[in-house]
Amino acid sequence: MARRILLDCDPGHDDAVAILLALASPAELELLGLCVVGGNVKLDATVLNARKLLALAGREDIPVYAGCPRPMLREMVTAEHVHGDTGLDSGSGRELPEPDTPVANQHAVSLLIDTIRQAPAGEITLVATGPLTNVAVAFAMAPDIIDRLHELVVMGGAGFEPGNITPAAEFNIFVDPHAARAVFESGVKLTMFGLDVTHQMLITPPRLKNIAENGGRVGEVVADLLDFFNQYDIGKYGWDGAPLHDPCTIAWLIDPTLFEGRAMHVAVDTNEGPSLGRTVTDWFGVTDAEPNAMVITKGDADRFFALITERLALLK
Ligand code: RIB
Ligand code: CA
Repeated sequence: MARRILLDCDPGHDDAVAILLALASPAELELLGLCVVGGNVKLDATVLNARKLLALAGREDIPVYAGCPRPMLREMVTAEHVHGDTGLDSGSGRELPEPDTPVANQHAVSLLIDTIRQAPAGEITLVATGPLTNVAVAFAMAPDIIDRLHELVVMGGAGFEPGNITPAAEFNIFVDPHAARAVFESGVKLTMFGLDVTHQMLITPPRLKNIAENGGRVGEVVADLLDFFNQYDIGKYGWDGAPLHDPCTIAWLIDPTLFEGRAMHVAVDTNEGPSLGRTVTDWFGVTDAEPNAMVITKGDADRFFALITERLALLK
């Protein structure tokens, strides 16, 4: 039976691939809805992008819920420098088709609470690939849902890799470090895909070409999007491709053998200063803090990209 998931995201190019990979994998995953948060770009744009991606995949039957437009305490930080002004700029300049279906009326936080409460305990998996504001607010409003979740799978943080928005912090955590700290301290069963593993998943020219040529109709569009997405990180890191962060969460749910990790304690630094938003991972267990996350540290990039290409081709 397919795992029932909710995806809280801030599309964004890599969120887009995560969404499409989930839609292309009905045998493993039932995507119940998209909860959207401000992050890569402002909320109105991330919501529009989520709706556009469902239209691209012919799946506007899946509802989109708008969530929190800004972090709990700090000012909003966005990443147009990476994702372009729309949040889904493409190499060709082409834009995705306009959606027909409006955004749902219910707030994403309320949807998260209602869906998790109404489903049998342990049935819903929550995946979060943006700042954790919606998740933290839902946990604060309804702490009973924490133990009802099957698990929470997060793209965010960095144990040993430097940060990508500051030298210490990864973007999703940095945008709302207070939300992230609340989530990591909530007791939820948490798996963390941080930069330690996502920086192994580089969109190299052969992989991008394979998506374009063998990913079907949707793969062609994705390759055009990733062509733009590659530009900033290739310039920044000097690598032969940008890291494809968010789909790691979905690929792991489809095939856990793609990745490996280790349980450890993760603390989120919420002190103003150069380490704000850092995820301090106790790799060697030198504190007496109980592990609160499975931190994924390694992945098979070739199999990861082969899975993405093969599945995108299934979206007719
Ligand atoms: O640091 C990378 C993460 O921040 C990804 O989820 C990207 O989409 C942005 O949200
Ligand atoms: Ca994201």
